[in-house]
Amino acid sequence: MCELEVRGGRRLEGTLVIQGSKNSALPIMAATLLLDGETVLKDCPDILDVHEMLAIINGVGGCDGGSCRFTGEGLRLLHNKVDGVPDYESCMRFRASSILMGALLATAGFFAMPYPGGCRIGRRPIDYHIEGLRALGAEVEEKDGMLIGYAGRLKGGYYRFPYPSVGALENLILASVKGKGEYLFENCSKEPEIVDLCDFLMRAGADIEGTGTDTIRIKGVEKLNGIQYRVPGDRIVAGTYMAACGITGGNIRLRNIESARLEGVIEVLKKTGCHVFTDAGNDEIIILSDGRRKAVSSIETAPYPGFPTDMQPQMMALAAFSTGSCRIVDKVFESRYRTAEELKKLGADVRTDGGSVIITGSERLHGGAVRAADLRCGAALVIAALGIYGKTIIEDCGYIMRGYEDIQRDLEELGADILWRIKEESTGN
Ligand code: EPZ
Repeated sequence: MCELEVRGGRRLEGTLVIQGSKNSALPIMAATLLLDGETVLKDCPDILDVHEMLAIINGVGGCDGGSCRFTGEGLRLLHNKVDGVPDYESCMRFRASSILMGALLATAGFFAMPYPGGCRIGRRPIDYHIEGLRALGAEVEEKDGMLIGYAGRLKGGYYRFPYPSVGALENLILASVKGKGEYLFENCSKEPEIVDLCDFLMRAGADIEGTGTDTIRIKGVEKLNGIQYRVPGDRIVAGTYMAACGITGGNIRLRNIESARLEGVIEVLKKTGCHVFTDAGNDEIIILSDGRRKAVSSIETAPYPGFPTDMQPQMMALAAFSTGSCRIVDKVFESRYRTAEELKKLGADVRTDGGSVIITGSERLHGGAVRAADLRCGAALVIAALGIYGKTIIEDCGYIMRGYEDIQRDLEELGADILWRIKEESTGN
């Protein structure tokens, strides 16, 4: 089991190129099942979830016998006939497998797969996915923990999302771009990752209007062709390192990141006392912090362009060092508060209050051993450790590798004292 050992107290300085976006790459990889000919994804992040999706795609008959792989140019994907039964175990291991339903309906005409897995940050049902696919004319049954869906070529349809779900919209987009007729979706999520998926599909020949708004119209097309595409920078990875700088003090320059995608995060970081300078023309963000951190009174997460839930744990870590108290309410995932319990082990003054968490900044945080409960919790604990003099061990770091190519490499590049460790599995005797 891998761990990280951090000796905090150092300012972060330097320049970093941000990796490609996990949550853009995963639906785009599923979308390649619909394309004829080869696709090359440049800057696709080399992370565990991408390899999980790659294994599934290879398994459903894509990649003419497994030729989907990272090459010098990027992630190469080429498909022939697609089967609708993805690997059961792989699907259970992460949430993004849910978006294969739409892609498999559009290619194989059916799917049979388990409920998706993913970080335990809330109930995370998939009712909108199922309702939406049924609204487009697909038959979807839930049987013995399996999801079984089938449809001839879809013939158009309408669906209004009860809540702007990212994954459910991705599913309906993938199900309809090669269907017959026209499709209208309302109350859509406006996340940058949706914009990237639609940008990718439109470059491959899809007819989509309204991306980035709450109303999306699609006209089905007969054919989509493989393309070369560069995966945009990961806004949550960039936000994580910005929060780290807010904790340690210093000045860092982040490249390959569109600052407009981080407006909500930048606004809050400025309130904590950070100075943030953006250069939209060069996809670059500079953040300066003198290490004095002011608490913002409250942070409430919301769908884009609101404050992103995926940055909530990292801001909880920053609040633990800030003067004053901050109330954090996650309105997207009702139980995404496991970071609080871990921060308490490091001396943080954190208490839960109904459906929210109140953090009062303290100078008394100390080193210790904590556990990554999920992907963003793990990242939050790493950046908290950067602000603590002494040694902190973060266990179960496999979660972090699901979304960060190499958080140790990146933070070391910025001057942190951080090392990977392999914890010997106890033999039990
Ligand atoms: C995507 O998850 C991201 N994951 C999440 O990032 C991100 O936090 C989330 O969107 C919100 O932005 C990927 O893209 C792989 P949702 P997703 O459907 O699609 C409820 C990370 O750390 N809901 O937008 O699963 C749901 O319970 C991960 O990178 C239903 O009730 O999120 C939640 O409360 C974590 N029924 C809300 O909607 C449904 O059918 C938003 O979920 C679907 C969702």
